[in-house]
Amino acid sequence: MMRKLTIVFFSPTGTTRKVVKAIADGTGLEYDSIDLTLPSSRSQVLEFGSGDLVIMGVPVYAGRVPSLLSETIDSIKAEGALMVPVVVYGNRHYDDSLLELKDILEAKGAFLIAAAAFIGEHSYTAKVAGGRPDSEDLESAKRFGNGLISMLNKEPDSPAKFDVPGNLPYKERKPSKPDTPITGDACIECGICARNCPTGAIDFNDFSSADPSLCIKCCSCIKKCPSDAKSFSDGSVVSFSGWLEANCSERKQPELFTPVI
Ligand SMILES: Cc1cc2nc3c(=O)[nH]c(=O)nc-3n(C[C@H](O)[C@H](O)[C@H](O)COP(=O)(O)O)c2cc1C
Ligand code: SF4
Ligand code: SF4
Repeated sequence: MMRKLTIVFFSPTGTTRKVVKAIADGTGLEYDSIDLTLPSSRSQVLEFGSGDLVIMGVPVYAGRVPSLLSETIDSIKAEGALMVPVVVYGNRHYDDSLLELKDILEAKGAFLIAAAAFIGEHSYTAKVAGGRPDSEDLESAKRFGNGLISMLNKEPDSPAKFDVPGNLPYKERKPSKPDTPITGDACIECGICARNCPTGAIDFNDFSSADPSLCIKCCSCIKKCPSDAKSFSDGSVVSFSGWLEANCSERKQPELFTPVI
């Protein structure tokens, strides 16, 4: 049975979106997109059923599915839907995130037909996985998408189970010290940062002001600013970036998990 394809993603700096779209393009099917990046989009209840094929992508935050998505993902209805969990990580590791996303979707009654971990430029520093997903990654994503269609064409009554790496209990979520990017004189007050902030942390009346308690350090405002006016000053993001650059520069490759491909 051919299914209706929908992609669902959260993607503050755009790499997860690129990967999930490339997978969908590889299927050759038309598809709907549900972008959960902005606060207003996360209040909707996502409902899928036996006529649906859903590719869901999230970035890896501290080895886990971003906690900001907990409520939205918890409220998904997916009984009988075929789903494909995808995580995108910044070339350190995806730890327990793919297992966590797979477990959540299976608990919602979805049948998982495949899963994948891709690499995206690290939110904190373009010196780690800079420019990824690159053309090689996107080709791999498209081939993966094409493979999903082969699977659908010989769809078994109940899809075979498969494992993904990860541990239980999942990696502990450690609270991090509140922080938010600073804004330099180069700001031209275009408002792009505020309009794209996934948590509404940036003040629409003063784009240089943001609420550190709302900031998830996603770096969307830094990467989207046309004037390079935003940056983290000293603090955990800056020091961790240095660690990443020293320890996580060796290229990692996408990992694809499926019982069939
Ligand atoms: C708060 C935070 C935590 C992150 N934790 C990890 C991690 O544990 N492992 C990793 O390899 N990359 C990590 N990253 C990097 C992102 O997973 C990676 O850059 C991803 O491509 C960003 O997705 P996006 O472009 O869709 O926002 C983290 C990024 C942020 C902002
Ligand atoms: S995106 Fe950059 S230039 Fe535009 S308002 Fe924000 S900080 Fe200023
Ligand atoms: S203020 Fe914080 S949460 Fe908002 S876009 Fe910037 S880094 Fe992300």
